[in-house]
Amino acid sequence: MEQESFLHRVLKIVKDETAPNVPLIEFRHPKELEDILKDDISISDPVSDQQLEESVRKVLHYSVKTNKPTFKNQLYGGTDPYGLAGTWIAEAFNTSQYTYEVAPVFTLIENKMLNHILKLFGFPDGDGIFSPGGSISMLYAIVAARFKAFPEVKSKGIRNLPEMVMYSSESCHYSIMKAAHWLGLGTESVRLIKSNQCGQMVIEELETALKNDINSNKVPIMVNGTAGTTVLGAIDNLDKIADICAEYGVWMHVDACWGGSLMLSQKFRTKLKGIERANSISWNPHKMAGAPLQCSLFLLKERGLLHEANSAAAQYLFQQDKFYDVRYDTGDKSIQCGRKIDAFKLWMIWKARGDIGLNQMTDYIMELAEFCLETVALRPGFRLVSAPLQCPNVCFWYIPSFMRHQTEDEKWWGLMHKITPKIKEILMTSSRMMVAYSPHKEHKNFFRLAFTFHPKLKEKDIIEMLQAIEDCGEMITIENL
Ligand SMILES: Cc1ncc(COP(=O)(O)O)c(C=O)c1O
Repeated sequence: MEQESFLHRVLKIVKDETAPNVPLIEFRHPKELEDILKDDISISDPVSDQQLEESVRKVLHYSVKTNKPTFKNQLYGGTDPYGLAGTWIAEAFNTSQYTYEVAPVFTLIENKMLNHILKLFGFPDGDGIFSPGGSISMLYAIVAARFKAFPEVKSKGIRNLPEMVMYSSESCHYSIMKAAHWLGLGTESVRLIKSNQCGQMVIEELETALKNDINSNKVPIMVNGTAGTTVLGAIDNLDKIADICAEYGVWMHVDACWGGSLMLSQKFRTKLKGIERANSISWNPHKMAGAPLQCSLFLLKERGLLHEANSAAAQYLFQQDKFYDVRYDTGDKSIQCGRKIDAFKLWMIWKARGDIGLNQMTDYIMELAEFCLETVALRPGFRLVSAPLQCPNVCFWYIPSFMRHQTEDEKWWGLMHKITPKIKEILMTSSRMMVAYSPHKEHKNFFRLAFTFHPKLKEKDIIEMLQAIEDCGEMITIENL
């Protein structure tokens, strides 16, 4: 069969197009790329398998090779090969995670993974679900917190409820703002609490904000602590947040989408001390741990609440008179109907590597990040934004020679704000590297190198990346800014 032989070629196509000699990216501006790929992208007329292969190869040629060590643009990188195999198997078996009857073993695997991970995070009697990402997990968290405070919200909505408010640090991920909007609470219901120089929530400010809201008859429903902020990788003081949540009777959620992977390490899990006191946690194995996108978990301490808050009891899917134990139909806990079997790819990784392998990988990238931080601290022209290391994020400026030994006034920082993105542009258009940059609070644009399990980097890769940043930084002049 023609289609089948095409399927057999896919592995070779992907292997060729991601081979070590293939550049990270051959960047083209959108209109130019549209022109280059015009015929390849068009879909009206059918093509032969050979033409299809040519078009697919061209699509991949112009795509970013996120498996390369020089892809440092995001909080994800290359995928774990076992995870990728798991994804392919899962896609080939094309089923949904909602009922035992269509996903018998995948259901057992999801349960197994959840129980293992719940124990790891200190919720041995908890509950959870795989969700399509950290932003969706944030929606789950607020829905659970709000339902716990006002169960009637499920049937009556928020019309007759008092004004609800939530708290998170100003350095947190933006998903809480979107979730507040989507859930009808509004973005103004989120109190963005000041963070310190290291990006951690200032706990005294949290308490003051809570008191002010309570005094003005608002109802705090959730405090979101972050374990690994997007830019600096900051970990909030979770124990102190837990103390405050206990005192004021407020739901504590921890966004551990990034930093949750540190729980895999006996040595570094202590950085998240207090997470076990939370009511709910989100963790994205698709970030640091290299599970293929998307793989995210939402965990709750209280068993049953997820089902109570989200179930719709559809009689055509979750019939209670089925011939098997319907407690294994777990899909009604979810906001989704059809749901990918994301647990399987994580199971493949865990099964192959075991707790010990994942522990070692976590320790390794933390050591690598420490090496990067120490190198940046000593290397001429480089300046750290924040230290010590919390998660494996290293943030820094590169100051080109022509900018050094000058008064660092507003004008100087204004130039630095433009220099960082310009260096990125040169790095990217020359295919040397893709690296994230961001401002943070009063800090002007700086680079963020965040380390992930895959591909496994060596110290020499880090030196090469810093060298690339330096080389491109030295190409900048005032005139070409
Ligand atoms: C700290 C943190 N939380 C949540 C998210 C959102 O996760 P997702 O991209 O899976 O929606 C991110 C994404 O970068 C993040 O950095």
